[in-house]
Amino acid sequence: MKYKFSKYVFVAPLAIALGCGGSKNTTPAKAVVTTEKNAIDRKADSVLALMTLEEKVGQMNQYNGFWEVTGPVPKDGSAAIKYEHLKKGWVGSMLNVRGVKDVKALQKIAVEQSRLHIPVIFGFDVIHGYKTVSPIPLAEAASWDLEAIQKSAEIAAAEAAASGLNWTFAPMVDVSRDARWGRVMEGAGEDPFLNSRIAEARVHGFQGNLGPLSVAACVKHFAGYAFAESGRDYNTVDISDNTLHNIILPPFKAASDAGALTFMNSFNELEGIPATGNAYLQRDILKGKWNFKGFVVSDWGSMGEMISHGYAKDLKDAAMKAANAGSDMDMESSGYVEHLAALVREGKVSEEKVNDAVRRILRVKFMLGLFDDPYKYCNEAREKETIGKKEFREGVLDMAKKSIVLLKNDKNLLPLAKQGKKIALIGALANDKTSPLGSWRIGADDGTAVSVLEGMQQYKGNQLVYAKGADVALGNPVFVSETKINTTDKSGFAEAVKAAKAADVVVMVLGEHGLQTGEGRSRSDLGLPGVQQELLETVFKANPNVVLVLNNGRPLALPWAAENIPAIVEAWQLGTEAGNAVAQVLYGDYNPSGKLPMSFPRNVGQVPIYYNHKTTGRPGNGQPTESVFWSHYTDVANSPQYAFGYGLSYTTFDYSNFKISNTSFGKNGSITVTVDVKNTGKVAGKEVVQLYLHDHYASVTRPVRELKGFEAVTLAPGETKTVTFAINEKLIEFYSAKKVFEAEPGTFTVYVGGDSNATLHADFTFTE
Ligand code: BGC
Repeated sequence: MKYKFSKYVFVAPLAIALGCGGSKNTTPAKAVVTTEKNAIDRKADSVLALMTLEEKVGQMNQYNGFWEVTGPVPKDGSAAIKYEHLKKGWVGSMLNVRGVKDVKALQKIAVEQSRLHIPVIFGFDVIHGYKTVSPIPLAEAASWDLEAIQKSAEIAAAEAAASGLNWTFAPMVDVSRDARWGRVMEGAGEDPFLNSRIAEARVHGFQGNLGPLSVAACVKHFAGYAFAESGRDYNTVDISDNTLHNIILPPFKAASDAGALTFMNSFNELEGIPATGNAYLQRDILKGKWNFKGFVVSDWGSMGEMISHGYAKDLKDAAMKAANAGSDMDMESSGYVEHLAALVREGKVSEEKVNDAVRRILRVKFMLGLFDDPYKYCNEAREKETIGKKEFREGVLDMAKKSIVLLKNDKNLLPLAKQGKKIALIGALANDKTSPLGSWRIGADDGTAVSVLEGMQQYKGNQLVYAKGADVALGNPVFVSETKINTTDKSGFAEAVKAAKAADVVVMVLGEHGLQTGEGRSRSDLGLPGVQQELLETVFKANPNVVLVLNNGRPLALPWAAENIPAIVEAWQLGTEAGNAVAQVLYGDYNPSGKLPMSFPRNVGQVPIYYNHKTTGRPGNGQPTESVFWSHYTDVANSPQYAFGYGLSYTTFDYSNFKISNTSFGKNGSITVTVDVKNTGKVAGKEVVQLYLHDHYASVTRPVRELKGFEAVTLAPGETKTVTFAINEKLIEFYSAKKVFEAEPGTFTVYVGGDSNATLHADFTFTE
């Protein structure tokens, strides 16, 4: 059974639904270059030609999952309306419906009951895993391991796709400088270069070859969302074009170039125009300059929010502004489905704009193979055998270990001896099997993470005593707020002190509950929530041999701990295998190699704090001076507690023989920088060697230094390897006063080392 659409023929979904065959789309994502793209464009056009205006608008409408899908048909309310719309072909996508049974049930309505049988695309927030959960994205970024990050995205995609999903609302690539913003946990931190490389890895990991175990990626939030004033989620954003292009946009561009199929716009405004109604972002930059061919979905209700922003009179006005600005799909505002057809008839939105949006949406559905087989992702046997696979557990464990950052290790307190010691393990988070899953893991069940207690219990040579000490949060953690945090109950302190006194070493797991970061979880204080700081100080008095294991979804400001606690391990929220990863690092079965993707401040007043800041007209010399008239604080240093790129190992590395091949290069030329890195300690270890550039003067001011390369080297004790970086014109380009990306002639300094304070350096010039 075949349907003829215009002059092209394709197998209609209904034909597949009825078992009438049709070729499977096995085209790999990256292979979709010219010919295949044209074929897909033609197929999309052939469907478009058959559609009524209402059906077109329907493709631009996305609904949240709404009723007991496999139960009775809803009779009234919004569920009944959504159901009717699905039958009419007025629903292009649904979100939050998952599991093969439910996805199949809804897909069946769309492809069997709607006139044109167009399949629905099913989206979900698969941010760092579906059932088997990886570390939160900020933690993964600390690995600087692009291969591992790609693998982690592949695991997430495989489980999600096996459960019927076709599309993840990830990666979030918002460059984040403000730890108060709860969503820093979803991204790759403060640096555009690192964010860009990770964005590419995640896009490739999610989308793979677009086979049945891959999903379409959605790059978000376009753009500027992380720059909410005072770190308060959804707050006003006011940034320069310079910051937009040099800092915020590069990861989006990288993700688009990597072939991401969709983008999501954002809740914030930019230059007074909400992103959903922002033509500069969506039409001029994304679809214009970058030639992005996928579609843009709004953020949840962000079209309707343009009314609250004071940018739209009503929902109809909002729909008009969003459509004209290039927002292709409306997530849950109902603005398009209710008003867009009328707006076209009134001449307020051109039908060509609607056609463009629909063509983009249809293309993605074709590329995912949904037209060939709308049930491509709906295989119950595959769902059963894929979700929770052993190799996925191993994959997320590997990722978790790579994400851990050793912040301090005085007196070599770590690694712990494996025999004959008494260890006290303290802190509610040590015995928590839900918190390590972190925020944004809707597909995973509570209580499915390995706790630190369970991880440490695997090491049986020591005596392990656990004491809670104090709770982190009270009440329902989904709605956790400052008022629900335990600020008073110290009844568990005595037991903790007793355990500490009897122990050789105390391991304290403190920090934020996994749901204290994420969307809507901004904080104005970056200390340990509740009475945990007091618990830490009390236990330290009883036994100073404390290893502090931090669980947190954002940089914390812990100056007292940094000064007093001998060993500090940054263990974020590490996902399903968290406890095993932490235990293996504490016992030295894995030598930590993570490096911070965000600066950790000394106090919240320093925020936003980031290594790639500008020099200012009064940089001072970084030392206290007699004068106060330079850019500094009178009560705290300018520097962070722990810098971007920083992280220790159980071994030590020595950098030497730093060389630059030439002191100048011109257009099409390049120079190389080499350095020898030696493992000078007693155990094997991995070091992430980082390269930073500083552009001395330019048509617009430039940061003090910018990451422009990194390379991990694994070294046996005593071993030396030479690391080489190439510097070319592309690497020194920036968004200049001419409002273009270009390399300007001038003087530069290159720095190489193990963190953003790298000191080995040389100057070079770029000539015209
Ligand atoms: C978030 C998005 C998310 C969407 C759908 C919004 O509140 O900002 O990141 O993808 O909800 O769940």
